[in-house]
Amino acid sequence: MPTHNNHQYTAHILATGSYLPRNQVSNQDLVSLLAEKNIETSHEWIYARTGISFRHYANDDETNTYMAYMAAQQALNMANMSAESIDLIIVATSTPDHLFPGVATSVQHKLGIKNCCPAFDVQAVCSGFIYAMSIATQFIENGSYENILVIGSEVFSRLLNFEDRTTCVLFGDGAGAAILSRASSNETQGIKSCVLHTDASGIDMLCAKAHVKNGSIVGEPFVYMEGQNVFKMAVTRLEEVALKALTQANLSTHDIDWLIPHQANIRIMQGTAKKLGLDLNKMIATVEYHGNTSAASIPLALDVAVRDGRIQKGQNVLMEAVGSGFGWGACVIEF
Ligand code: ACO
Repeated sequence: MPTHNNHQYTAHILATGSYLPRNQVSNQDLVSLLAEKNIETSHEWIYARTGISFRHYANDDETNTYMAYMAAQQALNMANMSAESIDLIIVATSTPDHLFPGVATSVQHKLGIKNCCPAFDVQAVCSGFIYAMSIATQFIENGSYENILVIGSEVFSRLLNFEDRTTCVLFGDGAGAAILSRASSNETQGIKSCVLHTDASGIDMLCAKAHVKNGSIVGEPFVYMEGQNVFKMAVTRLEEVALKALTQANLSTHDIDWLIPHQANIRIMQGTAKKLGLDLNKMIATVEYHGNTSAASIPLALDVAVRDGRIQKGQNVLMEAVGSGFGWGACVIEF
């Protein structure tokens, strides 16, 4: 298992940003929408099982690229940095605007960056932001790049089957961004550890299996999920990976100021925090207002907590996520 002990430099989070689509959709809105199809649901069911009250759905003009760009622009403003200072762009997404080129390329174009910095997408579904952070961290630690734009951006609303009430109520759209930069030599802050895993034995339990062939979509273009199996796997794997990331960072749960879990379901989030022995007041939870935004959920929650002043410089933050694949991971950061 790689560690971050023998690196030349340290990567730290310099700034964050986020974007939520204009259209906020309440549970009651979904009750009405599904009623038109003679499908029953209720705010009480959705809220009790998931902790979700609202999610946002992107309008046609709010493409994945647009949302990613807006989040990036906010992060650049917070850093007081010009787009031209970015020397790598990584976008974590499973809902890109096009088959290719990737969203990261379009973001470079929209930001007007002319420095030919590399730009690529990472497709690791709900764990995508942790995967992208891990990649960015290593590029900074080995001296390849100094300022990396890491974005999670998703339009899962486009993959929802509104005839499947078990999945369509869960997901929302949005984007979050972080600028990872080389820390100066006297700074202690930075990414302390990142741990990634994949177990493909769960490959069919959470998927959208459509592909394009001869100009037509073949297979199901919707999210398919075996909810209870995902739930059980999630709670076990998240505790394991969080403890691994803490060990690699030479920290214990007592050292953690904030937990930022992937915002899939409040019961999974609370279950993991309890297993880790973390006070629920130390958990950043945005799932009630954002729903599950897949790779965007952690950077969205991070940006909310940075902007409202909860996360302060020098505090230790544990991030963890699990998603389709199954893939999962965790990072420990001194902010
Ligand atoms: N409204 C009302 N009733 C519903 C709804 C709904 N929206 N959805 C399902 N039900 C019904 C079911 O039909 C079932 O009825 P029945 O008992 O008459 O058959 C009953 O509620 C219970 O259904 P379950 O599927 O057993 O409900 P469960 O308690 O497992 O909750 C849920 C479902 C919320 C999906 C849960 O399993 C879950 O959160 N799973 C994990 C999801 C997750 O974390 N995903 C993360 C990764 S996402 C990614 O990677 C893209």
